[in-house]
Amino acid sequence: MKYFIRTYGCQMNERDSEAIGAALEEAGFTRGSEEDCDLLLFNTCSVREAAERKAKGKIGYIRKLKLKKPSLIIGVTGCMAQRLGEELLRELPHLDFVLGTGQMQRLVPLVQELMKERRRCSETELSAEVLESMGGHDQSPSWHGQIAITRGCNRFCSYCIVPYVRGREISRTKESILTEARALTERGVREILLLGQNVAAYGLNGDVRPPAPDHSPFAELLEELNEIPGLLRIRFTSPYVSYFNPRLISAMKNCEKVCRNVHLPLQSGSARILKAMNRQYTAQSYREKVAEIREAIPGITFSTDVIVGVPGEEDSDFALTRELMNEVGFEQAYIFKYSPRPGARSALLEDSVPEEVNEERNQILLDDLKERIGARLSGLVGSTQEVLLEGVSARNPGRWSGRTSTNFVVHFEPDETCSPGTLRQVKISRSGAVSLFGSLLP
Ligand code: SAH
Ligand code: SF4
Ligand code: F3S
Repeated sequence: MKYFIRTYGCQMNERDSEAIGAALEEAGFTRGSEEDCDLLLFNTCSVREAAERKAKGKIGYIRKLKLKKPSLIIGVTGCMAQRLGEELLRELPHLDFVLGTGQMQRLVPLVQELMKERRRCSETELSAEVLESMGGHDQSPSWHGQIAITRGCNRFCSYCIVPYVRGREISRTKESILTEARALTERGVREILLLGQNVAAYGLNGDVRPPAPDHSPFAELLEELNEIPGLLRIRFTSPYVSYFNPRLISAMKNCEKVCRNVHLPLQSGSARILKAMNRQYTAQSYREKVAEIREAIPGITFSTDVIVGVPGEEDSDFALTRELMNEVGFEQAYIFKYSPRPGARSALLEDSVPEEVNEERNQILLDDLKERIGARLSGLVGSTQEVLLEGVSARNPGRWSGRTSTNFVVHFEPDETCSPGTLRQVKISRSGAVSLFGSLLP
């Protein structure tokens, strides 16, 4: 029996797909292709309307596969499955099952049931059982591994669907995370990316109040991961700025394996809009936090998420966002146009920003970013960077690429000793629009 999974959305979803794949392989399935499989899964995203539209379009399109091969089982999992449930079964008659985000652990038994006896079903109860049962990994050799340390979100930002489709925030035990990290490292993984909607709230039992300055279970977790022999780098995404406290900053500073790069979602630079978004910080406190982190860890780089065009965003609010972004000087940013999500609180407000204005604001931030990244990269020409080698460049098979701890991509010509997951020094000779080029030092 062959399976194929198409994944939409964030790294959390990619991680879930990996765990589902591992569970299926353990049950005797092998990986096939979209055209040649017995089980076709769509692990979906709901964060913006476009993500749902794309998945639905694709699922509609594969109806013809089912006509050719009626035994094919087609399932939808993940966030859109959670949000729409039965409605998807009604909308897409060739769909066999819908499995929500809190029922992913049911996938293998459900598929086995359906193979014996065909029926259509939708299971969307948000069960916490899923938390510790999604630890399976792809067994093919890799320098990189991802570990989900929490599931769900308790923040309820007014624009966001995630708390509704992923349920309440729950943290895994430290022991199970460490066991997973050690097992990955023993298999050759050298860089681990920790995942959670609000990773810095790890271990706070869902309490939305940011912890005391000297308390951070997440910092303790980083310190223990830092001790794993053979592991070279630790990254994490995303922390919410209010939970980034002095205890966490000092753990980052002292843990040499924790990368010098933070993805710190800003969303807006206007205090008024941040309030409407139910983000519990101000532009000023965000600014101060970045300064505090920079002071403790010189050379650290920042990336962020920003939404333009939330209901009520005036030109003056947008100007504040632009100003703050330029002031912080993010090395990377993901800019999204607001998409009203049914169920999220801001969807109840009138969408007051016209699409052309949204598009214009989006473009302005992208242009600023392009200019800034170009300047940051060219400033690194002539320097020597420590790079974790990843393998052959996607664009040029004659080159390899890797990343600095600060998350810059570096391309270089390989020598015969190159192997993925090792650290090498690279002398930077030139910069491109989004990456660096250099030569390996012996
Ligand atoms: N938990 C993360 C964000 C996860 S969603 C955090 O807050 O740190 C990833 C990004 O999608 C968000 O940071 C936000 O910028 C964007 N996003 C979420 N809901 C959106 C919506 N309704 N419209 C547009 N962008 C949205
Ligand atoms: Fe959504 Fe806010 Fe939770 Fe991030 S913190 S997932 S933006 S509700
Ligand atoms: Fe999308 Fe769900 Fe991630 S809504 S962004 S796949 S948590």
